[in-house]
Amino acid sequence: MPLRHVVEVSQFDRAGVEDLFARADAMRGIERPSTRQSGKILATIFYEPSTRTRLSFESAMHRLGGAVISTENAREFSSAIKGETVEDTIRMASGYADAIVLRHHEQGAAARAAAVSTVPIINAGDGPGEHPTQALLDLYTIRHELGRIDDLTIVLIGDLKYGRTARSLALLTRLSTGTRLIFVNPPETPMGADIREALAEAGVPFSEEPRLDLALPRADVVYQTRVQKERFASESDFLSAKGTYILGRAAYELLRPSAIVMHPLPRVDEIATEVDADSRSAYFRQAHNGVYVRMALLDMLLGDRS
Ligand code: NCD
Repeated sequence: MPLRHVVEVSQFDRAGVEDLFARADAMRGIERPSTRQSGKILATIFYEPSTRTRLSFESAMHRLGGAVISTENAREFSSAIKGETVEDTIRMASGYADAIVLRHHEQGAAARAAAVSTVPIINAGDGPGEHPTQALLDLYTIRHELGRIDDLTIVLIGDLKYGRTARSLALLTRLSTGTRLIFVNPPETPMGADIREALAEAGVPFSEEPRLDLALPRADVVYQTRVQKERFASESDFLSAKGTYILGRAAYELLRPSAIVMHPLPRVDEIATEVDADSRSAYFRQAHNGVYVRMALLDMLLGDRS
């Protein structure tokens, strides 16, 4: 079935992901600017802060020869402040653009937008729900770095409760075989029951390991995350979760030489800058891959005219 909106990772099967990754590989080599999407307009509507996601989508559309219209900080600078619903904003914006990238603070907002939009909606994060394009670029990075997406031990660290990227990546591993997940999280931020159930149903083995020193030596992939300050109801819960698991030189000593360390970014202090130069630190390469995966996604959604 052709992809119409990108709302959650469950929309992808293995063949769809392989197709996307092959297209992303091809995007690395295309001339700039391409004319593949010339005449098309992408709207980026962001109700929550973003650096990478918005800029990489906009860079992707420009590289494809398309145009971009944008509202950042839409919670204050769009008509949301006047009381407009996301549905009304999207109904209107779908008359202005050929596709819409939406980031919103409420879980389920992207699905609500997709229900009323006449153009493709791409979920760029819906509160603590999902962040499917990040998970796709994360899995693409794993394949690019390690040469495979099967038979992996992935250690997910940090805020697994509110961190939508970790939630989406965990769900996406259902498409890989022989992969196991290890959750290393403070007691305040466990992986959600919805994700655990989905993993159990799909037969993806997962376990909790509060000791970082026991988890790290087993990892092919370490996926560190930021404790999502903005989503905590209690300041004291945030303060006790923050700073529990920090990766620095001592942690890297425990890693295999072939392991990689990923992070969706932004980082605060959960990865010390002293390990940035270590070749296993893949987080900046990961962020760059976002452009190619998003070019490939836009091309799939808008139609490849070349
Ligand atoms: C993440 C997000 O917004 O969910 N950032 C991103 O898109 N790369 C992670 C975060 O904010 O911690």
